[in-house]
Amino acid sequence: MGRPGMVWMGQNTTHLEPPPEVVEALVESTAAREFQLYAPALGFEELRSLIAADLGLDGAEVLVTDGAVGGLHHICTALAPSITRLVTSDPGWPWPARFLGLGGIPTSAVEIYSAACGYKLQAAAIEGAIEDGSLIYLIDPLNPLGSVYTREELEAIVEVARRTGSLLVHDCTYRHFADGHTLAAELYPEGTFTTYSFSKWLGLAGLRLGAVVARPELLDRLSRVPSNPLGANIQAQRAAIAGLRVKDEWLARVRDANARNQLTVSAAVAASGVGEIVVDPSHGNFLAVEVAAAGWGSEEVCAALLEDEIFIRPGTYQSPGFGERFVKVSTSVPTEWAERFATSWSKLTPRGGGA
Ligand SMILES: Cc1ncc(COP(=O)(O)O)c(C=O)c1O
Repeated sequence: MGRPGMVWMGQNTTHLEPPPEVVEALVESTAAREFQLYAPALGFEELRSLIAADLGLDGAEVLVTDGAVGGLHHICTALAPSITRLVTSDPGWPWPARFLGLGGIPTSAVEIYSAACGYKLQAAAIEGAIEDGSLIYLIDPLNPLGSVYTREELEAIVEVARRTGSLLVHDCTYRHFADGHTLAAELYPEGTFTTYSFSKWLGLAGLRLGAVVARPELLDRLSRVPSNPLGANIQAQRAAIAGLRVKDEWLARVRDANARNQLTVSAAVAASGVGEIVVDPSHGNFLAVEVAAAGWGSEEVCAALLEDEIFIRPGTYQSPGFGERFVKVSTSVPTEWAERFATSWSKLTPRGGGA
């Protein structure tokens, strides 16, 4: 922000030239002074049906929220009185645990930084942490590692959720980048909240728009008292509608750029002798790179790249247990940015001190 030369490869935001239809929708909405209006509490009908169609979830209702995180906050606030425990992963995304922590709800963050569990939260590990009436927070594809859950893995998780009377939040923020993705809501419709974001695949992070999708009976627990009864950002909703209408062409572009940049990043990492891609291929618009074995700490690596105005993230933001060992590099960015990253990373040299 306020740093025009900065390469933003730390927050999984998308920085490609946006679809012209999206920009036009924003301009038209501004010209029509729609910003003087409130949007409907649950979101524009057209947007709600486009999101439902994008997911292809029969019988699901959509609540448009202020970013996926607005939806997650609302889920946590609304459910806190009836939830016994949050079960999530380390590494993971810290905010739901913090939201529920405000209500005194304990969290079990299961350690998953290991090839043995496929860098995923597996049913058996959930079983060891869960109690009746828990909330399981499953990020899929997983930020920060890029692992994705198979249908069989989700079936096993859903079985544990059903048996313990627990609810599931399936955070699908990065779904559009995955090769093959199953919605847990297909397997556990009566107990799954699916969260959806426009920040990553469409690149609308600053407009703050997302959604929570669930069966009407479940969603009613949230929509009875919406967290934002005056409706989410109206211009963002116009942009999202325009983006969903051109989704196929746009996704082909963004996924192509993402795949190319991941190759550039991987090649630079391999050539430097500093680091190894943790989950390869990653199903997200980011790669986690383990740096500890080359004698580097994650914060040190980020500081070194920042000297060249390259912003990447240390694992410490998303992993109390393993954050010193890896950095995260976001890849849905212009080619030149990936190349600048590669040049900067190639200055790192192995220290030979690590394990
Ligand atoms: C796992 C996960 N969930 C939710 C979000 C928030 O998305 P949004 O920008 O739609 O609020 C992020 C953003 O980085 C994320 O990584």
